[in-house]
Amino acid sequence: MNPREIKPGTYTVGAVDWERRLFDSLIPLPDGTSYNAYLVKGRRQTALIDTVDRSMRPVLFHNLDRLGVSRIDYVISNHAEPDHSGSIVEVLEKYPEARVVCTPRCQGILTDRFMVPAEKFMTVEDRKTLSLGDRTLEFIHAPWVHWPETMFTYLQEDRILFCCDFLGSHIATTDMYVTDEGQVYEAAKRYYAEIMMPFRAQIQNHLEKIKGLAVDIIAPSHGPMYNKPKFILEAYRSWAYDEPGNIVVIPYISMHGVTRTMVNHLLEALVDKGVTVKLFDLAVTDMGKLAMSLVDAATIVIGTPTVMTGPHPLVANAVFLANAVRPKARFASVIGSYGWGGKAVEQIAAMIPNLKVEVLSPVLVKGYPKEADFQALDNLAATIAQKHRESKFT
Ligand code: FEO
Repeated sequence: MNPREIKPGTYTVGAVDWERRLFDSLIPLPDGTSYNAYLVKGRRQTALIDTVDRSMRPVLFHNLDRLGVSRIDYVISNHAEPDHSGSIVEVLEKYPEARVVCTPRCQGILTDRFMVPAEKFMTVEDRKTLSLGDRTLEFIHAPWVHWPETMFTYLQEDRILFCCDFLGSHIATTDMYVTDEGQVYEAAKRYYAEIMMPFRAQIQNHLEKIKGLAVDIIAPSHGPMYNKPKFILEAYRSWAYDEPGNIVVIPYISMHGVTRTMVNHLLEALVDKGVTVKLFDLAVTDMGKLAMSLVDAATIVIGTPTVMTGPHPLVANAVFLANAVRPKARFASVIGSYGWGGKAVEQIAAMIPNLKVEVLSPVLVKGYPKEADFQALDNLAATIAQKHRESKFT
């Protein structure tokens, strides 16, 4: 994508990646992504805010050449992850006067990962400002979005907040600003669920910290910019602060149909009691959609057959990820089947130390479920519905 002017002297210079379908060899990118970088030309000096993934380095250089950039004084590194810093070494080679502006912690990571020489750095403290002549950059430390070194950069005169991954979305689009709020809401929630949710307390702090800033444009490092910041700020507030909903998420695997029969029975019983249920067959599910469902769910019920004395490996993988993203669910349980014995419940319980949940009575069935087993599932549904009512989850 060619550069575009946001405000006089401030441009987009990043790249759209239409083809990428996986991030970190783990996270699905159904709509591609972008690596946004921004150029701010002040009267005296020029700053590049973030670079791009190394695969898109030619696009960044094409854009800088197209704007006639012969000198960059500062490369602002809001985040050291390679999708934003992967071209930093080559930028420093092409523009040898440039110094890397970042948090002290970011300097350490860039040194370790990219071997950027020490003399190239200029570290900044929280709320420090840097004048480019007629433009002023203010640096706002914002650790754990989603790495420890992250910061935001605020362009005071034009009221633009460059917030790196925070508030972003993995979408490849030609839209400079959000036009389809439904699409961006979904993608931003997916992104929040996958990498921001574990840091909910820090996200809340950052939302408070930027409350006092006058922001006309939010310019994240992925996806379109927001020229109506309220849309994404309210969404983030809801995801980070709101109580969970009257929702049960059931990730499950069924090998011979027994666990599936139990899952179906529980689903019907829950729906009869007014509870919303979201099912995920882990053999085929998009893990991003599962993560999104965990943003709002009050209860997680794991459905698993017993494999080699424990949960099915795909269930173990999903439980590991659920524990890692630290959802705000309050209740959990396990349902499933076994042939002759096993420790699926004990093993799953040991895998979720991060979940602050009350564990409700599991329903484990030997062979095919009998009448008493279906009754136990009905009882579990009744308990969940009652717990949700008592907690006033709606
Ligand atoms: Fe977009 Fe955390 O990198």
